[in-house]
Amino acid sequence: MDQAKIKEALKSVVEPTFEDNIVKLRMVGKIEVDGTSALVTIKLPTPAYPSVSKQQLESDVVAAVKGAGASKVVVKYTIEVAHSPAPSDKALLKGPKNVIAVAAGKGGVGKSTVATNLALALARHGAQVGILDTDVFGPSIPTMLGNPEQPAGPTDDKKIRPAIHYGIKVMSVGFFVDKQEAVVWRGPMVHRLLQQLLGDVEWGELDYLICDLPPGTGDVQLSLSQLIPINGSVMVTTPQEVSIIDVVKGISMFEKVEIPITGIVENMAYYQCPACGHHDEIFSRGGGKRLSQEIGVPFLGEIPIDTRIRYGADSGAPIVISSPDSVHSRMFMDIASQVAMHIAKPIVKAPKRSTRLAVIK
Ligand SMILES: Nc1ncnc2c1ncn2[C@@H]1O[C@H](COP(=O)(O)OP(=O)(O)OP(=O)(O)O)[C@@H](O)[C@H]1O
Ligand SMILES: [Mg+2]
Repeated sequence: MDQAKIKEALKSVVEPTFEDNIVKLRMVGKIEVDGTSALVTIKLPTPAYPSVSKQQLESDVVAAVKGAGASKVVVKYTIEVAHSPAPSDKALLKGPKNVIAVAAGKGGVGKSTVATNLALALARHGAQVGILDTDVFGPSIPTMLGNPEQPAGPTDDKKIRPAIHYGIKVMSVGFFVDKQEAVVWRGPMVHRLLQQLLGDVEWGELDYLICDLPPGTGDVQLSLSQLIPINGSVMVTTPQEVSIIDVVKGISMFEKVEIPITGIVENMAYYQCPACGHHDEIFSRGGGKRLSQEIGVPFLGEIPIDTRIRYGADSGAPIVISSPDSVHSRMFMDIASQVAMHIAKPIVKAPKRSTRLAVIK
């Protein structure tokens, strides 16, 4: 038994989300052999790697290596967050390895709630995360995160430091505009503001930057797609037809501006009364899943309508923080894993060179 034989045997182990063998996916790290004992290091592409997949991977790796003649197999894990290519010196955004937009065709379907809990869930999984609130028309991230301290003044190199709250870095248009004031933003102003927000903020190293978008298919979406490479997007919809129709428009716009659609989250999917257990599908159910099947994009998960989720958003302590062990919090943790895996998928599957060519802007 030697390293080459073990590596050959590991070609039979398929990663369930990436649907390819772990050798080809470059997930196999150091292999150490000592007599008939083997230690195999597996490189995971995200700290949010799903625990079910990890268990499956581990038993498949052990079986394959035993099949190659080992009597004892130890599997060790390291995390190397899959990321798009390093940006050029001229790029506006330098620190974040992955940029994920949270969008919807419609207002009020829960984009900001999903964006906030997704960011916090990724951080709870162990990732370095930032959230950027680009909703110039109604920034709600500061409220949802309990009004984190506004960032301190510019650093020596005139960069703005994001606030740090609940372990994530936070930047919002809301830090710069009066809450009461109705702001009328024209396209070029939106573009300049975003340019400044993106270029002047010192994010530092981040595994994921989550961008919360305003509803629809307007200036913010267009400017953002022109200013930075976005390598994934989460489309939020409620189950009913009017929301689905609008999210289809959102997806169509993202395809035109070449923002990859990572998947769909169905929010307010059903209501379960916490007192009596009565189950009600207020806005119908399953529209998001059906759409994902129709257009062939991943379904990332569903979240019910629940007072505790609304309260968490209003009170500045999102459910992932205020009730980390609740069933809803676990749903967001699962969605975060799904998002991280589907963001990683095209990166780990592509031959190295073409990934670079595909993502550079
Ligand atoms: N699953 C849920 N259960 C209960 N309330 C929810 C849920 N999701 C969102 N809400 C509530 O619905 C309202 C709208 O949510 P949110 O602000 O996240 O939507 P949005 O799509 O970002 O809105 P906008 O288009 O104005 O940016 C908020 O009061 C939020 O607390
Ligand atoms: Mg919002």
